[in-house]
Amino acid sequence: MAGIKIAVLISGGGSNLQALIDAVEQKYLQGEIAIVISNKKEAYGVKRAQKHHIKTSIVDKETYGTREKRDEALLKILQQEEIDLIVLAGYLAILPRSIVENYRNKIINIHPSLIPSFSGEGYYGEKVHREVLERGVKITGATVHFVNEETDGGPIILQETVDVEFDDDINSIKEKVLKIEHQILPLAVKLFVEGRLRVMGNKVKVKTGNLK
Ligand code: GRF
Repeated sequence: MAGIKIAVLISGGGSNLQALIDAVEQKYLQGEIAIVISNKKEAYGVKRAQKHHIKTSIVDKETYGTREKRDEALLKILQQEEIDLIVLAGYLAILPRSIVENYRNKIINIHPSLIPSFSGEGYYGEKVHREVLERGVKITGATVHFVNEETDGGPIILQETVDVEFDDDINSIKEKVLKIEHQILPLAVKLFVEGRLRVMGNKVKVKTGNLK
């Protein structure tokens, strides 16, 4: 599956997008980021993409008005670009059912906790880390998973942990978790591109070996 076309969907800073751009440029993963789509025109990730001469598209309320029109536009762009893999890298919107159905097991999301903890409806952004701290858990982490109809409920591809220290605050946790996100997201995409992921029910079998 080498040379596959990837669409990265973002809403914000795009540090995970940057990790993917770097991974492609360093030839850690074979594949092309064909387009970066943002639902926020001011998202810094859009600038990151432009800096690397990657095509960008803004699918926002201002341009497309209703949710239906936005959903339609998004699907059309993905089809026009002949996208093989969609990566949600801090995309703060729910994907329409039509896209989830059309790209079954071809949509990857990164979530900043160990799913199923601190995940599901409403768990995004700093809320995740705030609740981690409030609950006093000793470890947290990040999860890369395929997207299905259930929020954060799709088959898990990779997870990595970080320790939560007594003195951690939201920023320090966020920083620690982002650091591992930047490792496991490119790795998951690499595994996908190399055809090493097999989805069996709600589980993913990862064929490892020879991984750099
Ligand atoms: C990350 O924490 C990711 O797990 C979550 O949104 C954040 C995006 O950060 N889904 P960035 O825009 O990639 O810097």
